[in-house]
Parts: sequence; C-alpha cells; structure tokens
Amino acid sequence: MMINGERVPFTNEKNILDVVRKAGIDLPTLCYYSELSVYGACRMCIVEDHRGSIHASCSTPPKNGMEIWTNTPTLQKHRRTLLRLLLASHCRECTTCSKNGNCKLQDLSKRFGIDEVRFDKSEKAFKDEYKIDDSSPSITRNPNKCIHCGDCVRMCSETQNVGAIDFALRGYNLMVCPAFDMPLAETECVNCGQCSAVCPTGAIIIKNDVPAVWKAIHDKKKRVVAQVAPAVRVA
Ligand code: FES
Repeated sequence: MMINGERVPFTNEKNILDVVRKAGIDLPTLCYYSELSVYGACRMCIVEDHRGSIHASCSTPPKNGMEIWTNTPTLQKHRRTLLRLLLASHCRECTTCSKNGNCKLQDLSKRFGIDEVRFDKSEKAFKDEYKIDDSSPSITRNPNKCIHCGDCVRMCSETQNVGAIDFALRGYNLMVCPAFDMPLAETECVNCGQCSAVCPTGAIIIKNDVPAVWKAIHDKKKRVVAQVAPAVRVA
C-alpha cells in the first residue's frame, strides 16, 4: 500500500494504524492499545484515501492498492475539531491535575495548537458536573475528566477479567462508571490500577497510599473466604 506517496509493505498487521506506525510515521491516538480490542472512539487516528474518504486507521484493515495520507490539511482540521469537542466537556483544571504534563489530551491539544475552547461547557447541551468517586483506597475516579475512550473499560474486562467499570447511559449523558454508579470501593475492583495506566487523562488517578491498598485487598480476601467457606465445608 502507499502511505504519504511512499510504498509500504505490510504482512500481518491487523489495521492501517499498525502499518503506518511500523513505517515510522507518527499518528496520534487516544483510544488505541494494540493489546486491547479496537473501539474506534476518538477518531484521532484518521487517514485520508486518494478519493478523499476518511477512515479511522485503527479499525480499517490494510489492503493492497490502498493509497492513504496521514496528515493532510483536512485531517488536521478534523483533529482540531475533535479535540475542541473533547475539551468542551472536559474539566480544565490542568494546572492542579496530577496528570498535568503527562496527559495525552493536553499533549495533543498543544501539538495541534488548541489555545482556546470554542464550544463552551456552559451551553445547555453539555452535561453537569459529576461527583468525584474517592471511595477506593487505590484509585480516584473523576468522571469530569473522562473522554469516553473506553480504554479503562476494556482493560478491566478484557485483560484483568474484573469488569468493575463499564459504559452507562446514552448520548451526551454517556459515562463510564461502576454498575448503578456505585462507589468503586463497593464493586469487585481488585485495586490493580491498570485502568489508570491506560487512562489518557486524569479521569482515573492512582493514590499513593500503599498500606490502605493492602488493607483493602486483605479485607476483600477475608470477605470472599467468609462467603465461600460454608460451601467448602459442605463439599
Ligand atoms: Fe482510532 Fe481512537 S485510535 S479511533
């Protein structure tokens, strides 16, 4: 296939994004992790083909004869609009956020020169503030900083096999939370912190209170043993 006018061979790559990156070309992403299933939420990875059609490269398989461009003026314009839309409903307390300087959304906003928020959060269409979930000994969840990339959801269910968090509601009410928006401490969360490792923003932050985490894990183990013990005795 042709990428930016150069012939690039591909073999077993499952999507255009992998071919592009293998060729050493940088493509921005917010929701792609090769070890997780493809969700295609952020659209930052878009590429343009020779007919002017736009594709999400993470969810499009490479084909022989394809000709794509990764950084045309149209793509840059769309990426800037997407970032502005994400920032519109994103808590913008960057200077006091512990992810400041280590936030993918912040990095991409700087890279694409977004220095003003065009769509104001005060518009009727944008959601109200969500409460911060600080119940877990290991994690603080701030849904106001969530960009709905689903990385934490897929990490928790696909890799960790826990499924403590998922998407809820629809449209602009969409949110990521435990079932029935319960506090995280009351779910099956095992305090592994992998959701935080893949979160591109400050929506899920690890706490540094290691003794509290160990105590929580120990208490949870005791609860589980107490629950299964009678059944074990009967058997
Ligand atoms: Fe392709 Fe997010 S990386 S849609």
